[in-house]
Amino acid sequence: MYDRVNSTLGASPAMPVELFNKDNHVCVAFRDLVSGEAVQANQFLIFDSDHAALIDPGGDLTYTGLFMEISNYMNVKSLDYVVASHQDPDIVASLNKWLVSTHCKVVVPALWERFIPHFTRPGKLAGRVIVIPDEGLNLELGSIQLKAVPAHFLHAEGNFQFYDPKSRILFSGDLGANLCPTDVIDEPATRLDDVLPFMDAFHKRYMNSNKVCHYWANMAAAMDISMIVPQHGRAFTGKAVAEFIGYISNLKCGVDLVTQDNYRLP
Ligand SMILES: [Fe+2]
Ligand SMILES: [Fe+2]
Repeated sequence: MYDRVNSTLGASPAMPVELFNKDNHVCVAFRDLVSGEAVQANQFLIFDSDHAALIDPGGDLTYTGLFMEISNYMNVKSLDYVVASHQDPDIVASLNKWLVSTHCKVVVPALWERFIPHFTRPGKLAGRVIVIPDEGLNLELGSIQLKAVPAHFLHAEGNFQFYDPKSRILFSGDLGANLCPTDVIDEPATRLDDVLPFMDAFHKRYMNSNKVCHYWANMAAAMDISMIVPQHGRAFTGKAVAEFIGYISNLKCGVDLVTQDNYRLP
């Protein structure tokens, strides 16, 4: 079904990158589809046994490019799922287009179910929404069950990451987001220190508190993870996986850091 000759890890950033390709199971990252002033964002395709999910496909900026790219792997009309980690525009603002151009179901956190229709035309979502309850979900996708893993308040109040048990990749959404130089964006970081300067300020401001960071880290430390792949910037692999989980576990952020000084009239 997929015959495209793709770049491999570490190749030019102006191509999709296969994170995994084995036994009729492919995970692809698209990192170069956003142009102009918008923040760089990654979109992901998981393809298994003629079934496919797009994770966090983004907004209008990425729709056309992503549609063209995934058509190299599959008949796009038969896309099974558009999966949204949370409600932000860089996550799922293109939803209406995917609903019109494919037969997909949209998979969204319960907390945002009634906000998502603001991205679509009236009636377009009827019978096409799968809601992820707060405790998470196992989503049937070909031969695997894609796990929607709770990551609430990291940063959105209702937020999920997606764990692929076959590739052992954790698609971590905005957690781990790093705005690194584009020439290294396709090279997974093996040391947290290589990425930290490009992620620390973001996490201190956007993540909610050490309490939720610590709970997430306890969960993640018990998982079998080959790679953590955020929605912005580089992936983490090798030693950087445990280093990243340790960093998040100890992170003081969000409400930990604010004082009365942050709440004064301008
Ligand atoms: Fe976000
Ligand atoms: Fe984001």
